Amino acid sequence: MVVLSAAPVVLAACGGGTQSALNPHGPAASEIATLWWVLFAISMAVVVIVFGLLGVALFRRRDAPDTRHTESHGLVITLGVAAPAVILIGAFGFNLHTMLAIDHPASPATVHIQVIGHQWWWEVQYLQPQKFATANEIHVPVGEAVQVQLIAPDVIHSFWVPELQKKVDMIPGRTNTTWLQADQPGDYRGQCAEYCGTEHGQMAFHVVAQSPADFQVWLQAQAAPAQQPTGDQAQGVQVFAKEGCISCHAIQYGSNGPTGGTIGPDLTHLASRQTIAAGELANTPDNLTAWVRNAQAIKPGNFMPQIPMNSQDVQALVSYLDTLK
Ligand code: CUA
Repeated sequence: MVVLSAAPVVLAACGGGTQSALNPHGPAASEIATLWWVLFAISMAVVVIVFGLLGVALFRRRDAPDTRHTESHGLVITLGVAAPAVILIGAFGFNLHTMLAIDHPASPATVHIQVIGHQWWWEVQYLQPQKFATANEIHVPVGEAVQVQLIAPDVIHSFWVPELQKKVDMIPGRTNTTWLQADQPGDYRGQCAEYCGTEHGQMAFHVVAQSPADFQVWLQAQAAPAQQPTGDQAQGVQVFAKEGCISCHAIQYGSNGPTGGTIGPDLTHLASRQTIAAGELANTPDNLTAWVRNAQAIKPGNFMPQIPMNSQDVQALVSYLDTLK
């Protein structure tokens, strides 16, 4: 217990990346961490008192006069009823206080997004102030609240960024809402927190908190259409179409509207993302090649079919995808 409770304190020295609710980096997570420590302190006090009394009972002199009949009544009422009632009502009150404190951000959200939980990746739709789609990576401006709508078309998922917010379920047929706010720039890992099938454990995402100026740069770049492929990438574009990638993945080229399906992640700015396969792999050409060749070997059960392609086509496809900054 000592080791377990000391671990978050040691990790708290690092900024971001620990995926620990005890390493808060936003106003909501700070409230939650305070609640955790208060409940932990109360629990420890109860344990110490109970074991202390047990020790007294075990080791007190056996030949001491038996005074139980005169003492026990008051003791049972005090320690057995009154003390637990006060402690539990107090803890409940503090819980309610925390729930109310994190219900809404202190100032209105400046960014509105919708996150859609899929088996097993995260679709992210930016709604305001710019409209575009991305996947498995959410960017937020430091010090500003981001309003998040949560939905799921297939099964129940749960959206959780431990360093920023509580977990909120994504339930088919209803829209839940939450908000994210980070106090300092950093990369905060999120994870699906509700068992949703085979690859539940590989359903991660990143929340990247940036200075408002950097965030605006990112926002404009993401809202822009994909770079028109140049001559060198023509073969990659052809492979993308003829091998059927296009039936599930969209690449937006602007004026003509969405190009491609919406079953898998939008790839318009794929190369700008840190990871692929919902946080499972770093976004490098080698990993992308392995993924395109046989995604089932990396993430068994995911919905991307294995499409046999020759090495030349794979290489052309990956170099084309790599230009989608
Ligand atoms: Cu999605 Cu677990």
